[in-house]
Amino acid sequence: MKEVSERERFLPRTIIEKLTKIASESKETLSLSIGEPDFDMPRPLAQELKKIVRQHKQNKLSHYTSGQGMPALREALAQKLRKENNIKTHAENILVTAGSQQALFAGFLATLDPTEEVILSNPGYLGYIPAIELVNGVPAYVTLKEEENFALNPDLIKKAITRKTRVILLNTPSNPTGTVLSKKILEEVADIAVDKDLYIFSDEAYEKLIYDGKKHVSIGSLNGMHNYAFTFHTFSKSYALCGFRLGYVAGPQKEIDALQKSVHYMSLCAPHISQLLGLKALQMHPKYIENMRREYDRRRMFLVKRLNGMGLHTPVPEGAFYAFTNITSTKMKSLAFTNALLKEAKVAVVPGTEFGSAGEGYVRLSYATEFHTIEHAMDRFERFLKKH
Ligand SMILES: Cc1ncc(COP(=O)(O)O)c(C=O)c1O
Repeated sequence: MKEVSERERFLPRTIIEKLTKIASESKETLSLSIGEPDFDMPRPLAQELKKIVRQHKQNKLSHYTSGQGMPALREALAQKLRKENNIKTHAENILVTAGSQQALFAGFLATLDPTEEVILSNPGYLGYIPAIELVNGVPAYVTLKEEENFALNPDLIKKAITRKTRVILLNTPSNPTGTVLSKKILEEVADIAVDKDLYIFSDEAYEKLIYDGKKHVSIGSLNGMHNYAFTFHTFSKSYALCGFRLGYVAGPQKEIDALQKSVHYMSLCAPHISQLLGLKALQMHPKYIENMRREYDRRRMFLVKRLNGMGLHTPVPEGAFYAFTNITSTKMKSLAFTNALLKEAKVAVVPGTEFGSAGEGYVRLSYATEFHTIEHAMDRFERFLKKH
């Protein structure tokens, strides 16, 4: 029998998967590795879920929805995007997907021909590169620097552009660095996209998890962006609904139709039950998200203070729920540091190299983890550092 496809053989397995398995199998291990909220879904959503299930017949829950997503949900999403993100969009410009990862994948399928390039940050979210490579696209990297607060430098984007470039991919607030891109940087990137006729993919998965009064700006809200920008959002992070697999993308109509064709052959539609829940989530009082955001904020400040106190330089993350810590003072490589920390101190963190070569010298710690777990993990971290 032939082996699995070559494509599959080259597809990397993430270290996070391995770490998650170790952490779930070992009661002693404290995990700061996982990028999903530790919170259960907000109470009104749990109540709504029961109602949706009780009324499953009226809701036609066992049936597919329209491939693009339920019209009522798309209408509500268009309103949300107009009101909260300042994006002038309509229901027909929105595609509902099984998480934003599916929308991103469909986006690459719909815009890239083989060997065409996507410009993206290094370090950056680890879900992008395999998705680009699966459609035979090519990632082109722009290196982020700690001295520049890991912000994207538009001059470096200009330098990375070739005749094969099709997409500039942004992620604000960023996983893994927590950086929030300023309006000024976004305006410069928007100008580049128009000048060079490139699409912009703006991944805004953490849009509502922002601290210190910083503001989230969607590049899709800037003048002239309606033909260029795709904005990717998810219910996974702010609403703590990862398991419901619900995301959406807004973009130019013709291209959204193309993405929908791809999604049709992947999953036909996003889960019906999740779409009904998403509708309720959009109407939920904002205090439920705000309560989670405040708790992340408290953990963020604690974590950053402890790490800096140990002599590990940790920039204060502006958004998301990750700290990206500089470990170069330990003289250990990221992966060796992570393995030793796991073995000796039973604390799981993610090596920076999981997010690209420029992540060498860093580890990512997730504070989507209960406060007391972070406290214990930091005590173990400190004892570990004293030995090394
Ligand atoms: C930056 C970023 N984008 C997209 C995703 C995918 O999220 P989902 O598919 O759950 O919407 C993640 C998940 O960790 C992420 O961190």
